[in-house]
Amino acid sequence: MCGIIGYIGSRKAYPILIKGLHRLEYRGYDSAGCALISEEDSDLHIYKAKGKVADLESAAKGKDCSGTIGIAHTRWATHGVPSEVNAHPHVSETGNLTLVHNGIIENYSTLREQLKKHGYHFQSETDTEVLVQLIEYVMSKTGEDLATSVRVALKSVFGAYAIAVIDRRHPDMLVCARRSSPLAIGIVDGDGEFFLASDASPIAEYTKHIVYLKDEEVGVIERGKHLKVYDLNGAETEAEVKEIDLDLSMLDHEGFPHFMLKEIFDQPNVLKDCMQGRIVESPYSHSPQVILSAVTSNRRRLLRARRIVIVSCGTSWHAGLIGKQLLEHFCRIPVEVAYASEFRYSDPVIEPDDVVVAISQSGETADTLAAIQQAKSQGAFVYGIVNGVGSSIARESDTGTYIHVGPEIGVASTKAFTGQVVVLTMIALALGMAKGTVEQDEYEQTIRELIQIPEKINRVLEQNDKIKQLASRFTFAHNFLYLGRGWNYPVALEGALKLKEISYIHAEGYPAAEMKHGPIALVDAEMPVVFIATHHKLYQKIVSNMQEVISRHGRIIAIVTEGDEQVKGMVEDVIEIPETLACLAPLLSVVPLQLLSYHVAVAKGLDVDQPRNLAKSVTVE
Ligand code: G6P
Repeated sequence: MCGIIGYIGSRKAYPILIKGLHRLEYRGYDSAGCALISEEDSDLHIYKAKGKVADLESAAKGKDCSGTIGIAHTRWATHGVPSEVNAHPHVSETGNLTLVHNGIIENYSTLREQLKKHGYHFQSETDTEVLVQLIEYVMSKTGEDLATSVRVALKSVFGAYAIAVIDRRHPDMLVCARRSSPLAIGIVDGDGEFFLASDASPIAEYTKHIVYLKDEEVGVIERGKHLKVYDLNGAETEAEVKEIDLDLSMLDHEGFPHFMLKEIFDQPNVLKDCMQGRIVESPYSHSPQVILSAVTSNRRRLLRARRIVIVSCGTSWHAGLIGKQLLEHFCRIPVEVAYASEFRYSDPVIEPDDVVVAISQSGETADTLAAIQQAKSQGAFVYGIVNGVGSSIARESDTGTYIHVGPEIGVASTKAFTGQVVVLTMIALALGMAKGTVEQDEYEQTIRELIQIPEKINRVLEQNDKIKQLASRFTFAHNFLYLGRGWNYPVALEGALKLKEISYIHAEGYPAAEMKHGPIALVDAEMPVVFIATHHKLYQKIVSNMQEVISRHGRIIAIVTEGDEQVKGMVEDVIEIPETLACLAPLLSVVPLQLLSYHVAVAKGLDVDQPRNLAKSVTVE
């Protein structure tokens, strides 16, 4: 969480920093700030505001924003409430240095006490302020330059950081460093112009050439010179320049009122992109087949797996629950699904042949990253399913498949979920075929149905107005229950999470049959109950569960298969989705739930894309 950005070059830094902060705002948005070294008086000018980047723009309006070097930050509070004084950049005792930080300094209170004894004063409640003071302390004691002082100071620091620091006495230098929090440096060839940011999205419009700093590397950026990268001991390391290809149109609303709605409507097209080149017609059988390079090139290693452990968080964990069913069904391999935050501290049993699958939209979630590092250290083979190209989890994995759904900006994940499920389906099919655990007919039928999913999602999206109208009648609720079974049980969890995240209505997802063991006590006329009751083998059982709710006057919203007359005869609010295979039903049944939560939140007048207290990318524990 928190987004940082920096610029040094010949252009005015301020507009670049502000535009970049807007792109990074998904990482946190409770306060923002920027620091520039002025062209007019060569001094540091720092502007901060509680609230969003737009509030920072108001705070800086009419002030000196003339610098061609600057750093900026958008915050998601960890230590210290959201306020102007806790907003970054933070400034050193002498006022010479200023710094922005993403991460958590775990030993900050010890460092702070030590620095206080040396006469340092602290203005904020943040962990970050110790960093800038510590760097200054090292500088004053050793007489070293900024780059060396940063390096030395970071040796005393425990925790996670991506930092950028500037010194008002050296307006041609910007120093940055990372450990466990991401940092990308964009290089404009030949111009000595540099951009740095928490991800490539604010950089991509200026250059395709990116260096992703590795853990415990320090980048020294000097105007007009080449980037230099060092380890914490001062040895120069090689900066590997990667070429990125980011579709910038994905970073705009494109006529939709919110990113979330745009991303829900993106799904048909991005899922086609996700399957592109991976589902191909076989020249021999004239039937489509799945070809995933990660499965092909690691075939022997994957076939050895006697167990798969999926680690992930949030929505990606829900995709993992569907992945378990897919992999067990098609590959007959036992699969466990763990919250990454639990797995990493659980002293996990990892056998030599185990495969750990990490699912992450951002590729930066701190717990998921730590979980795979833990698994790798115990000998597991790690397969990443990631959206963030070049992200930490993608780089840390032994192999992987990108979901390729384009940047997801809305904090509530939508298209990443369906992209993850599509990739999991393709992996299960490819691996099942390699293992011989899936029949040719079922393999071909599943692929043919998978290809139809984007068009079928379009048919669900055509009901947007109907779902909007329905949602407007449910804004009164304080609680919602979501019930599903089998393949649709994870969808019930995901539907409940979507509602909680953006409408602040308490919602629980449950396996429908478990309702009798507790949640049914909550059911009354005030309790909307969403049933996902598509036409599969447990259909009649879930219809019975529905009767139990009706008998207790619960208000049902039912997601059913097109043409379902039985449920339509029982309940008023029914949303139909096209018929598909049971294992692919989540790809359709989740879409009306995404729209339902979106429209409930909009009807309540809430900030859909930036809900309170949440952040898109959780880079702290
Ligand atoms: C945050 C986001 C969720 C996301 C979760 C895991 O909580 O708000 O949308 O599902 O992190 O993130 P990841 O990037 O690892 O999928």
